[in-house]
Amino acid sequence: MDLRSTIDLTGSVAIPRLGLGVFRAGGGQPTRDAVTWALERGYRHVDTAHIYRNEVDVGAALAASDVPRDEVFVTTKLWNSDQGYDATLRAFDASAAALGVEVVDLYLMHWPVPEHRLESWRAMERIHAEGRARAIGVSNFVRRHLDELSAHANVAPMVNQIELHPFGQQRDAVAASREHGVVVEAYSPVTKGQRFGDPTVRAIATETRRTPAQVLIRWGLQHGFVVIPKSSNQDRIAENASVFDFELDPSQMQRLDGLEEGLHLAWDPTDAP
Ligand SMILES: NC(=O)c1ccc[n+]([C@@H]2O[C@H](COP(=O)([O-])OP(=O)(O)OC[C@H]3O[C@@H](n4cnc5c(N)ncnc54)[C@H](OP(=O)(O)O)[C@@H]3O)[C@@H](O)[C@H]2O)c1
Repeated sequence: MDLRSTIDLTGSVAIPRLGLGVFRAGGGQPTRDAVTWALERGYRHVDTAHIYRNEVDVGAALAASDVPRDEVFVTTKLWNSDQGYDATLRAFDASAAALGVEVVDLYLMHWPVPEHRLESWRAMERIHAEGRARAIGVSNFVRRHLDELSAHANVAPMVNQIELHPFGQQRDAVAASREHGVVVEAYSPVTKGQRFGDPTVRAIATETRRTPAQVLIRWGLQHGFVVIPKSSNQDRIAENASVFDFELDPSQMQRLDGLEEGLHLAWDPTDAP
């Protein structure tokens, strides 16, 4: 496994295992710098969303880069207030225009909005059929959302992006995703920096001579997740990518697995209707 390793989403679309998240990367130059540094470091996957208000900056950094567009996997997301069939089509057009791309690699439904999610999915299926999104998926879906969607969808979601770290493992959502053949992406993988002081994480960082962030990212990769840590700092962007030259042994994985506490740092979809 290395920074170029991918997981197949369809016969022809593969998602890089590690990506750069840009939530709260800051609009304007800070996001442009983060994406530029990431591409220079070898990242080939950027995760943004309409609601992050930095699609324009992600697009500008991609356009300014020497890396060809078709070598970078770009994800953006449909925001909740844009759900509904026609609104989704319009929102996608606006996101693609902001990114300055013809084709988005992955378009995700950001949240399972109860009244609109099925008609929004129909629109996403159309966007996919028209070739404007190479892959489509969901985010913050738990088992019942996936079951419901699979009963209605013509095209199954290819990805479910959920919060995942040792302190919140959403095991049932992961199991349901895999039962439905959906690739799991881990957001907030380094706990937004809030569990770096945990004694187990610190001990394993010492044992492996790595940082807590690297240990947490490696945990996600070894569970088979796509992992998308956010950083706007050049050194930390590099640090977060230096996770392919060490391995957590089975007992270290088990100790990290033992940290489950149902933690949600972003959204908790457990009881979402
Ligand atoms: N689908 C959804 O609903 C959803 C929700 C949340 C997030 N996401 C996506 O997932 C991405 C990652 O999640 P996240 O941003 O919530 O959390 P995260 O990646 O777990 O943590 C980001 C925070 O940790 C810090 N950090 C990162 N690497 C570090 C390191 N090596 N050492 C010390 N501090 C470090 C960052 O600060 P610096 O920038 O200063 O380094 C930032 O404050 C987001 O950017 C977004 O793309 C999706």
